[in-house]
Amino acid sequence: MRTMARRYAWQIVPISCVILAGRTGSATKLPASKNRVTRDPKPREHDDRSQHDVENRDDAAAPNPMTPDPAKVRIWDERARAYDALCRRWNVFTLLSTRLIDMLPASLPGDVLDIGAGSGLTSELLLDRHPESRAILIEPAHGMVDVARTHLAARPAQFLVMGLDGAPVRDLRAVAAIASASMQFLDFEPAFDVLSRVIEPGGHVAFNLWYHHWEETAGGEGMYGWIPIAEAVCREAGVELAAPPARPVPKTRAQLTNATRAHGFELLVEERDHDLSPVSYGVDFMAMDRQWPAPGLEPSQRESMIRTMRERAEGQVESLGSTRFLFGAPR
Ligand SMILES: C[S@@+](CC[C@H](N)C(=O)[O-])C[C@H]1O[C@@H](n2cnc3c(N)ncnc32)[C@H](O)[C@@H]1O
Repeated sequence: MRTMARRYAWQIVPISCVILAGRTGSATKLPASKNRVTRDPKPREHDDRSQHDVENRDDAAAPNPMTPDPAKVRIWDERARAYDALCRRWNVFTLLSTRLIDMLPASLPGDVLDIGAGSGLTSELLLDRHPESRAILIEPAHGMVDVARTHLAARPAQFLVMGLDGAPVRDLRAVAAIASASMQFLDFEPAFDVLSRVIEPGGHVAFNLWYHHWEETAGGEGMYGWIPIAEAVCREAGVELAAPPARPVPKTRAQLTNATRAHGFELLVEERDHDLSPVSYGVDFMAMDRQWPAPGLEPSQRESMIRTMRERAEGQVESLGSTRFLFGAPR
């Protein structure tokens, strides 16, 4: 079970002990927080596009380590509506985003980058808290941006369908950047290089890393409860549970320290959270993939198997870890 858990752990969320630091490397540990992840009542609907989007048309640009991986972007593009429903049904993503917003200054007059903005949840929460801000959503998956536009219609938001490598990003100036459940997709070095030019002196960068994307938490507690449930339901149905893709390589302390110091960023806050989450959420997360639990299933059989998994997961909870960071930009 433990082996299986490790095999599958990374793909649950691409998905944080408290450390407060006045300077990079001088961190003080505070107690970890424990919270309960619950289900939010109703997912919102998607509709058409609006006016504020900009595409990355810098076709002549040289290969860039910041260029989003097309295979990963395609996955998020295909599951955009499913992801939006998931993150509005279960409050773990709201918790993660809200904690990042909590770390930022009480007033943020100006533009705030939402890196890997997905379907717009973080930006909505940011604008609810900071009506004085404008959100700049940087998100390479068209499908995600289409959904985000509906949630942010008539709000001060701009949409950039690209990664941080996009030419229009170079011209931005922002008081802060926030990246919830998305920093795992970026290399720290080029990301902080771009951010050192975009974030105003004394501005802030807040982001989090799920347990399996951070070397200090990879292999620890995580979203594993769905595994024995899915295995049993598949076995009973005579179906082979789909093999997981390769595990991610977790980001390291050395990578983070080197990249941030090289570009003059100062670690201000580092905090680890442990949230109690229903195992049903893990089932729902996996079910975003239409080829799960096995490719080629009849829709009615697939629905029935997933329903059975949810019923068996009912009442079970597990602890999810994540780590969040707040960096100050050079002055
Ligand atoms: C798990 S979603 C998180 C979305 C949102 N931040 C939230 O909290 O709901 C991760 C997002 O990162 C995006 N992404 C993937 N590669 C990226 C890259 N290189 N740069 C920026 N975003 C990327 C994906 O398309 C996806 O929408």
